[in-house]
Amino acid sequence: MTKRITKEEHDKWLVKVLADQSNQRLFILEDLDASPCGQVRFSRADGDAWEIHFSMGAQFRGRKLGVQMIRAGLDVFLGKDQRSQIIAKVKKNNMASLRVLATAGFQIEGKCGSDDSETRLIYISK
Ligand SMILES: CC(C)(COP(=O)(O)OP(=O)(O)OC[C@H]1O[C@@H](n2cnc3c(N)ncnc32)[C@H](O)[C@@H]1OP(=O)(O)O)[C@@H](O)C(=O)NCCC(=O)NCCS
Repeated sequence: MTKRITKEEHDKWLVKVLADQSNQRLFILEDLDASPCGQVRFSRADGDAWEIHFSMGAQFRGRKLGVQMIRAGLDVFLGKDQRSQIIAKVKKNNMASLRVLATAGFQIEGKCGSDDSETRLIYISK
């Protein structure tokens, strides 16, 4: 089961993430007024593997922006270095994320998490 976290816990975690530049990369999607719409974060797993995390602001969902945001994040993060392996772990009932990742070029590898509650995917670059 997912544990609910408080705003204080989240803020503390975010400060730590932003400070950890060798293991975390955070990209913000902005609209033309420079207002934030969504975020893509790459978090080092092990070796050359990084885990992708993302979310779109509630008012921007359902407009097919998710896949564009993930593609842009992958382009910027990977740059010319295509060696990094990008993985994703998604709760198995999170259909929107599974769809977005499939469209962006991820393939399902298998199950993971406690009770196999998550689907593990890997990015296959074209
Ligand atoms: C996942 C997320 C970024 C998708 O962004 P989005 O811009 O709203 O996505 P889209 O509008 O492109 O929709 C993505 C696909 O999911 C489908 N979809 C959306 N909501 C759905 C739902 N509740 N059930 C089933 N499919 C759904 C859409 O039909 C679309 O499929 P298609 O490309 O085959 O037509 C957004 O929903 C989000 O921020 N969710 C909360 C955070 C989250 O789950 N992060 C991932 C953690 S691993």
